[in-house]
Amino acid sequence: MSLIGKKIILGVTGSIAAYKSAFLTRLLIQSGAEVQIIMSASASDFITPLTLATLSKKPALSQFQKNETGEWNNHVELGLWADLFLVAPISANTLAKFANGSCDNLLAATYLSARCPVMLAPAMDLDMYQHPSVRSNIQKLESYGDKILHAESGELASGLSGQGRMMEPEHILAAVEDFFASKSDFKGKKVLITMGPTQEALDPVRYISNHSSGKMGLALAHAFLQNGAEVYVISGPISLPVDKDSFRWQDVKSAREMYEAAGALHAQMDICVFAAAVADYAPAEIAPEKIKKNSASLSIELVKNVDIAAKLGAQKKQNQIHIGFALETENEVENAEQKLSKKNFDMIVLNSMKNAGAGFQVDTNKVHILHASGVAVESDVAPKNQIAKLIIDQIKNIPVWV
Ligand code: CTP
Repeated sequence: MSLIGKKIILGVTGSIAAYKSAFLTRLLIQSGAEVQIIMSASASDFITPLTLATLSKKPALSQFQKNETGEWNNHVELGLWADLFLVAPISANTLAKFANGSCDNLLAATYLSARCPVMLAPAMDLDMYQHPSVRSNIQKLESYGDKILHAESGELASGLSGQGRMMEPEHILAAVEDFFASKSDFKGKKVLITMGPTQEALDPVRYISNHSSGKMGLALAHAFLQNGAEVYVISGPISLPVDKDSFRWQDVKSAREMYEAAGALHAQMDICVFAAAVADYAPAEIAPEKIKKNSASLSIELVKNVDIAAKLGAQKKQNQIHIGFALETENEVENAEQKLSKKNFDMIVLNSMKNAGAGFQVDTNKVHILHASGVAVESDVAPKNQIAKLIIDQIKNIPVWV
């Protein structure tokens, strides 16, 4: 498995094993990863930043402040950038900092900001590694979900022999590759996502639309991407920052345009996620010129828009999966179940407007997932990227899939 496109923070701390970080950096880069080095202050007693910067093809960071101009290395941005936060070697001191939320250097602050998985490869002397305080810190970090790449046995720098040597760089590379391989359940799969609102023009300057921000659809698009899928996005007008180059991205405005774009792709897709808040009606006619306010009242005739999910649902093949969304204000589960069967979905994600922290524009959501098989799952209020992961895990349970 290659690491092409994977973004890895490689933390290096003060240990004699830091010289092996140079080999590890080279292996990660050779495998295709983008590597950002962050060093603790004492790491540079063992290996120079220049060595690691040259091998990683990026400056090796260690300070909060970039230079005298007051610019800083933003640990939050670094933490969000990474797909994996790896520290090799991690010293007893940095293990203690991570286990206890201490944050007195850039590496520890980035650890606290990182939302991605964490792998830690300890290296220290035999007795240090066995000390109850180190064991307890390691257990604590495991309880946070961090993966410990346990030290290997052999000759140690002190002359003692036993467990404490940092895992060999080749073994660390294999663990990293295995980790990404296990997250590539959608490798080779094509996923179509409709998202955002649609805009239905009234005249050249006005339209009918809704409050959809596209945040849930975009979180799903990213989650599919991280799981190895090729992601085709058809998005109504949104104002979110998006790295469109990571996707096969098409911008559309109206429901008709969204339908045409989705229809053209549908037959080749493995999974279709209908996350768009499509306007149900559109003006029967688009006035060629701006409508003037000449009369006391104005009636606009609206006609039903094409139901994209229902139309494509009727063409769904046996090996295709369709996922729908429903936003309800009353009889939520009953209405969602009706949509599930009417639109031939395999699974529907119900958003209730009644939940605080759920729905349009906000960064969190709370959903009720209903499978066509009858299985139902409810989430807590959580950030939309976590809800996206939950939705993806549920898709993996759909029988077409397994
Ligand atoms: N949908 C669609 N095309 C439409 C309307 C809806 O593809 N013209 C999709 C949505 O993307 C969503 C699902 O159908 O996945 C349900 O959308 P929703 O607006 O809740 O349902 P409607 O069928 O429009 O029903 P109503 O508005 O009457 O609740």
